[in-house]
Amino acid sequence: AVAGLPPTPPMGWNSWNTFGCNITEQIVRAQADALVSSGLRDAGYRYVVVDDCWAADQRAADGSLQADPARFPSGMAALGTYLHERGLQFGIYSGASEQTCTQFQGTHPGSTGSRGHEKQDARTFADWQVDYLKYDWCSSDSDHDHQVEAFTAMRDGIRDTGRPILYSINPNSGVSGSVPGTRYDWGGVATMTRVTNDIEPKWSTDTGSSGSQGITDIVDAIAPLAARVRPSSYNDPDMLVVGVDGDPGLTVAEQRTQMSMWAMMAAPLMAGNDLTRMSQATIDILRNRSILAIDQDQRVSAGAPVDNDPEIWARAIGEKGIVVSLTNRAGHPRRMSVPLTSLGLVGDKTVSAVDAWSGRRYQASGGRLSADVGVHDTVVLQIA
Ligand code: GLA
Repeated sequence: AVAGLPPTPPMGWNSWNTFGCNITEQIVRAQADALVSSGLRDAGYRYVVVDDCWAADQRAADGSLQADPARFPSGMAALGTYLHERGLQFGIYSGASEQTCTQFQGTHPGSTGSRGHEKQDARTFADWQVDYLKYDWCSSDSDHDHQVEAFTAMRDGIRDTGRPILYSINPNSGVSGSVPGTRYDWGGVATMTRVTNDIEPKWSTDTGSSGSQGITDIVDAIAPLAARVRPSSYNDPDMLVVGVDGDPGLTVAEQRTQMSMWAMMAAPLMAGNDLTRMSQATIDILRNRSILAIDQDQRVSAGAPVDNDPEIWARAIGEKGIVVSLTNRAGHPRRMSVPLTSLGLVGDKTVSAVDAWSGRRYQASGGRLSADVGVHDTVVLQIA
């Protein structure tokens, strides 16, 4: 564990999925206020991360990054103060190459990536009381050694400041197919590492825009990487899309599935929805105490598929607890079950479980734990 950083996966909110480049200081403050009033802060969502497009197109005369004067007129230090006064933490974004992702894609002007400015930019972030840095990669260069050098340079820049700043990296942007986040274990470099391209609020790649990932694609990409997870080192399956508008968007059952599986993976939980207009269903999903307790379990052991079945995962919890998730990927409700022997358990009479979502109790029978699961829904069985 890194001194001053939480020993379990970070939780919070990120501006990108709902606001993109339309982000302003008023919006960030309103989202922060909503984190507090909705109870999400007290449930553990504390990092407020301002993603791409906060920076002015040009660096200042002394080479330092500066806030966009139109959208962040009060400056980033003032925004950090606003968040800290409300018991929240301040996250910011930069790029490990010459440009941020929107600059590289040409949808936003400028060339303010941190490559070659690592020490200065880390110092600036520390001066602004930043607690979390999301550090992206958007470049035509996807050379592995260059990536390692660039991401390590900012790790060292952060270390030199002496401020505990959680370091979240994404080496995958602009890289298709087998992405750098899966091919290489970045655990010695960053606290959390993205393992896929950008998430969209959809079930799988079959729908929506190409290149982005649905929730089941991400679950399958992360399954082989469970052994990399330990305290202060997490696979990042990207942000929550619970309550995020989109085409086609997620059904309530699919949102439960995302939340369930992110908890099974011991993943960071970064909400991306508009917190000022949440349905009760969205609040209930984001705030489910049993699910959050699984995600935040101090043992920080990530779950993995049981018997190579992508629909059934198990995760070790605490000293000797086990949680099993049953996800129904079929288009019709169905009864699903897991053999006790696959979980290293025996004895129908002694094995029972409670579903983290419904609170329903299940008793093993015939050597199996079984539950009825709705379309694209997930039952999360906490074995007593
Ligand atoms: C990349 C990242 C996203 C977001 C955008 C911002 O696509 O993967 O999460 O940060 O850049 O431009």
